[in-house]
Amino acid sequence: MIMTEEHKMAADTAREFAEKRLRPLAQKFDEDEAIPRELYNEAAALGLFGILIPEEFGGMGLDYIACTVVMEELARVSASFQVCLTVHNSLVSTAIVKFGAQDQKKAWLPKLATGEWIAAYSLSEAGSGTDAGSLVCAARKDGDSYVINGGKSWVSNGGFADFFLVFVSTDKAKGNKGISCLAAHKDTPGFEIGKKEKKMGIRGSDTRELYFKDCRVPIGNRIGAEGDGFKIAMTQLDGGRIGIAAQALGIAQAAFEEATAYARSRRQFGKTLAEFQATQFKLADMATRIEASRLLTMKAARLMAENANATQAASMAKLYASESANKIAFDAVQIHGGNGYIREFPVERYFRDARITEIYEGTSEVQRLVIAREILKN
Ligand code: CAA
Repeated sequence: MIMTEEHKMAADTAREFAEKRLRPLAQKFDEDEAIPRELYNEAAALGLFGILIPEEFGGMGLDYIACTVVMEELARVSASFQVCLTVHNSLVSTAIVKFGAQDQKKAWLPKLATGEWIAAYSLSEAGSGTDAGSLVCAARKDGDSYVINGGKSWVSNGGFADFFLVFVSTDKAKGNKGISCLAAHKDTPGFEIGKKEKKMGIRGSDTRELYFKDCRVPIGNRIGAEGDGFKIAMTQLDGGRIGIAAQALGIAQAAFEEATAYARSRRQFGKTLAEFQATQFKLADMATRIEASRLLTMKAARLMAENANATQAASMAKLYASESANKIAFDAVQIHGGNGYIREFPVERYFRDARITEIYEGTSEVQRLVIAREILKN
């Protein structure tokens, strides 16, 4: 795909920021299991929190292709850092752009665009992960408010986000057609940030449980109509899955670069690893998978940019890119041998970070289900 000057500029900005500001700290994010807010503020100053928000609301007004190339560049250096931005841009901000009322856009988008507010998306619960439509966190109408009671799980950005999309059941009898989408600010009474998860990978990312105890949010914080929540959640995941495909691609690219450099310099039996055909074939497979992942991901991004249906393309991109990232990170560790198993070499982190890309925003099994349903629906 031919990128425009605007897309190239977006990618260059992200790469420069990632190399200068994230590269020296990426390993520390993993060890500390935290990323300083200051670094998010720096990304915000570059416009990276408002990529998909129209200029009239203070955003960059760029398209999904720009967003995707930015996400790949950030993930190539730190997937932990990138996940915050992909959730903020693709899952939350565009929900307000697409489904928000004009007064909601005016009130919320400028704060989201500048990164004054960081966003989180809370759909999953302890008992409803893949079966998202079975969620039980409930909201009942009381006067001009909704009163939320229940909990949410595995919420990325949960510990430091300011603005939360919360998917709640407003009519249990209607199943997934009784789900609504509410916005809640972190300071709302009755809203509590819960336990921070200790994760295998993307350890710099802050993943939380949330609790709502008689938490009152104005009815005016409902996005879309009552009962539209599940469709909003699914529509947003079309775009979100492209962001995770880009994350997988970034991790795969990083693992490939490290493996290639290592193969060129490491000597065994009097030659470099790169001189062994066993290594060459691994590198060839990695490069081919990366190229295919990038083409699928960019195709899905182009469909989003054209406002075309991207459901199948997004799932194909996420499925292929995430499975490839896992295979590539696995082989990158193998090429590194013992050095791939210790934290001094970044492939150990890429291997752990890649794992989640087959799980969140829909497991690989969910992506296959979505693709098969799209194939068979007519
Ligand atoms: N766009 C618009 N509407 C959609 C849609 C889409 N992509 N997918 C489904 N819908 C609509 C359907 O058309 C249907 O509407 P009608 O009843 O009017 O026809 C309705 O939604 C229900 O759809 P399904 O019957 O397909 O629903 P289902 O219960 O069978 O679930 C599923 C399908 C694909 C398994 C879905 O539950 C799913 O995607 N599960 C995975 C959940 C997930 O990805 N969670 C991610 C959490 S967020 C996260 O991970 C963020 C992070 O931390 C980084």
